[in-house]
Amino acid sequence: MIRDQHGLETTAASEQAVRRYDDMILHYLGLRQDTGDRLKAVFDADPEMPMALCARGYFMKLFCTPPLERKAEESLAAAQKLAAKGATDRERRHVAALGAWCRGDIAGATDAWEEILLDHPRDVLAIRLAHFTHFYLGDSGAMRDSVARVLPHWSAEQPGYGFVVGYEAFGLEETGAYAEAESAGRRAVAINGRDIWATHAVAHVMEMQGRLRDGIAWLDGLSGGWGACNNFRFHAWWHKCLFHLELEQFDAILDLYDREVRADTTTADYLDMSNAIALLWRLQEAGADVGERWVELADKAEGKIDDHIFAFHDAHYMMALSVDGRRRKADAMLDTMEAAAAHGDTTEGPIFREVGLPLCRAIAAYGRGEYGAAVDLLAPVRREVYRIGGSHAQRDLFFRLLVAAALRSGRYKLARALTAERNARNPGSAWGWKRAAAAMDGLGETAGAEAARQRAIELMA
Ligand SMILES: [Fe+2]
Repeated sequence: MIRDQHGLETTAASEQAVRRYDDMILHYLGLRQDTGDRLKAVFDADPEMPMALCARGYFMKLFCTPPLERKAEESLAAAQKLAAKGATDRERRHVAALGAWCRGDIAGATDAWEEILLDHPRDVLAIRLAHFTHFYLGDSGAMRDSVARVLPHWSAEQPGYGFVVGYEAFGLEETGAYAEAESAGRRAVAINGRDIWATHAVAHVMEMQGRLRDGIAWLDGLSGGWGACNNFRFHAWWHKCLFHLELEQFDAILDLYDREVRADTTTADYLDMSNAIALLWRLQEAGADVGERWVELADKAEGKIDDHIFAFHDAHYMMALSVDGRRRKADAMLDTMEAAAAHGDTTEGPIFREVGLPLCRAIAAYGRGEYGAAVDLLAPVRREVYRIGGSHAQRDLFFRLLVAAALRSGRYKLARALTAERNARNPGSAWGWKRAAAAMDGLGETAGAEAARQRAIELMA
């Protein structure tokens, strides 16, 4: 029996196949664009390696798009055959996890990875995948704890150790432990300056703390190492745009949008679309003219109205359709989403039903200019929105939409309350103080409005 780089027994035709698998895994963890080529090299060495087939199935699932989901099922079928012929217990559990994921049982897949990690805490593929699904199930505590459970079994000598520290950083950030998160993220980046996930975890800390200039300098200082990264680099650039957005540097953002965030206008990848849609919406809300940039996004969103893989993605697609005035498509998407929401046997079904649908209906209402309706739809579920997954920084989009809808529908008391919440939580955000000022203007509270406006001016100076 051959062991992988973390000492795990691995079924394979040759030592060479396992070494290539090790190499591929490190490229995957580094979010490198040549991961697919590295996986092909594994299959060249051994077309029937169970873990390589599981990895292919997982990667197909990670694209979150129906055509590739079907390819994941092909990998699953091949892996199941091999598992029946001969595979380790750990490998069979990976096959079961892939099977659960293919059935839409994301919670079951996540449980399977966590079970694998009880026995094999250095199974870094299980660590990374659980990090992903905890994230998209909105369970930031599980994302943090999942890494804490395995870290005692890791040391700096283990290949890929720094990546695990990067996951630790992001879990800590999403649970509000900002100092610990920044320290872990900086340690990971010290190990590998091209670790874009850990880099991005630190950018999240700076975003949450309103450290705009720190954030811009941090990302600028490390962006030179992103050349070999996959499309995740667009998301890192998106983060840089958020810092500029607080400073209302619209020209700098639109320049970054065209050159980096949306450098590739052919991509309909969910993360690329979400970055672009969220950024354009925020820009418009802040008063910027984004030109014709919605059109290509809405075109691509039209091709996704039947997807319903994660409610988080759908909410962004709905935003592109509704902002660009494509009402018929937006309505069609809501119809098929209702059908997806009726699936009681998938993990995402209840999330669509209880959160995704009202959120998407609110987004559609906002797009139609029915701001009061948008408030009525979104306000009752706003504390459940975390269940669609994504980060605090990403979901802030929906909070902003609620505040904007409250202001535009004259619900000034609600807008004042919401912005007070936000300003308590993130006093370094000029956006919050400006909207608080607008709410108080609406209520005729001149002194309060002036004080809030002054606060925003000071923050932006
Ligand atoms: Fe992020």
